[in-house]
Amino acid sequence: MKTMHAILATSALMVLAPLASAAGNCTLRLKGNDAMQFDQKAATVSASCPKITIELAHSGKMPVTAMGHNVVISQTADMATITTAGMKAGAAAGYLPKGDARMIAATSLIGGGGHTSTSFPGSKLKAGGDYSFFCSFPGHSAMMKGKLSVTK
Ligand code: CO
Repeated sequence: MKTMHAILATSALMVLAPLASAAGNCTLRLKGNDAMQFDQKAATVSASCPKITIELAHSGKMPVTAMGHNVVISQTADMATITTAGMKAGAAAGYLPKGDARMIAATSLIGGGGHTSTSFPGSKLKAGGDYSFFCSFPGHSAMMKGKLSVTK
């Protein structure tokens, strides 16, 4: 019985821990699927976070070559330029224009069943700015995009 209680307590902590960090708006947690969708259309993070973490899980089964997903954050006005440059950069570059300062943050590209994450300082964002998160895989940002609101 003691072991069972220990397992239950541990499970509860594992469930609660991510919720606690999300409450501070320092984590952007997204899921992508085989239907070319993120599970959220909008999210909020805080510019005062020393570190903002982006976590992406691909809940589908399709390979990265057919249904690759990543998460890029930029000003909304830069989204089209970045996706076009990312397409030119090609699959080997994860459809990301390397070194392009307009990309505030970007995860690696993953396929079905994959997970990836990255972090960046909250100071790279301005409270009240017009930001978006999107997937830079060719064609995906038409559907795979959302508004990233930034609080202080
Ligand atoms: Co995608």
